Amino acid sequence: MQRQIEYVRPWLYPKQLEAIFHDKRYGCIEASTKAGKTVGCITWLFEQAAINGCEGRNYWWVAPIFPQAKIAFRRLKRYLPHSLYTANESELTITLANGAVIWFKGADKPDSLYGEDVYAAVLDEASRMKDEAWHAVRSTLTATNGPVRLIGNVKGRKNFFYNLSRKAESGEPNMAYHVITAYDAVAGGVVTLDEIEDAKRLLPEQVFNELYLCKPSDDGGNPFGLRAIRECVGQLSNLPPACWGIDLAKSHDWTVCIALDAYGQVCRVERFQMPWQETITKIIDLVGDVPALVDSTGVGDPILEALQKQKRNFEGFKFSSTSKQQLMEGLAVAIQQRKIGYPDGIIVMELEQFEFEYTRTGVRYSAPPGQHDDTVCSLALAVSLFSVPRPEIRIRRL
Ligand SMILES: Nc1ncnc2c1ncn2[C@@H]1O[C@H](COP(=O)(O)OP(=O)(O)OP(=O)(O)O)[C@@H](O)[C@H]1O
Ligand SMILES: [Mg+2]
Repeated sequence: MQRQIEYVRPWLYPKQLEAIFHDKRYGCIEASTKAGKTVGCITWLFEQAAINGCEGRNYWWVAPIFPQAKIAFRRLKRYLPHSLYTANESELTITLANGAVIWFKGADKPDSLYGEDVYAAVLDEASRMKDEAWHAVRSTLTATNGPVRLIGNVKGRKNFFYNLSRKAESGEPNMAYHVITAYDAVAGGVVTLDEIEDAKRLLPEQVFNELYLCKPSDDGGNPFGLRAIRECVGQLSNLPPACWGIDLAKSHDWTVCIALDAYGQVCRVERFQMPWQETITKIIDLVGDVPALVDSTGVGDPILEALQKQKRNFEGFKFSSTSKQQLMEGLAVAIQQRKIGYPDGIIVMELEQFEFEYTRTGVRYSAPPGQHDDTVCSLALAVSLFSVPRPEIRIRRL
């Protein structure tokens, strides 16, 4: 027996509606934080699956990392009556009564985004995804000619979403471009003007411009400054180490050891993954008697103890959100004053990816979700040791 279901679209404010619900195949929406990006696009994807879907048709929700996709998965489940769907909690799928399947995926492993035919997709927080994720999702829409909505904050000019938005803005066929600023969201009634004014007072101007007004900053919201990062690039020094910074591997990242010479130039970069006992031996071999600052957070604590049992030149540093922020601010000063130098490669890549992160307690510097920051951490540890003024003792014979 067939069931007829009456659906009433939840209320969306006019700008939200206009930006997401149109008949162009590609929709790029640069939008303020808290403008209703996620809610609007969940509604759009649900309608695509509910109205055009049938048994076996796939619809994709893609977020930068899996835990973010899970938040959207939970939100959609909350909106739908139980009798309308079945959910698979481990695969993060919602199968609607008409047989269409909505998948929630993380973009951190772009290779996992190839494969199926997809009938419509959303890339939420697209400015925080790698180009490869977009290429992969685009390929899944080929056979179906499926529509896609890409939505996100403005985040500099060095990402595919920025470039695609410029194409859409220039009036390419079958593409639509919309912008929703925080003031549009205030007019729509989903945020208060007080909240926006408060953010304006608290945040650095370039950060506010990107996050709330959708205006890109030339530094791409990078706390170190892209130009300053580039201006510190030089040759790997061949002088001996004066100090080391050591960031120990946690669950799935690397142990990184970086040394600065007596002039603040990086002279050694070592990056490895090995069992703890071998890590300890390797660090002792590398560092010798040179001062070293070691990440002693969590599992780092016993490693530091083991190092200190053998040598007296190892000091510990415990990462907390406050201490990490202070460490990164020290690194930012060193970079902006060109007090340090490093070779091109992994250090530059990780520094360039850094961004401001907004929390209830303020602004922090951090790597984007799913990206490594261990090279930046070990550089910051080395810089912190390098910057400590040491007593100069001269002995004069009378
Ligand atoms: N049309 C709407 N009607 C009522 N409330 C809405 C509407 N759109 C969004 N909201 C509310 O505004 C808040 C922010 O919405 P949402 O999470 O979709 O925004 P976002 O732009 O994705 O935010 P973020 O920057 O955190 O990703 C939520 O509490 C949501 O319920
Ligand atoms: Mg969102």
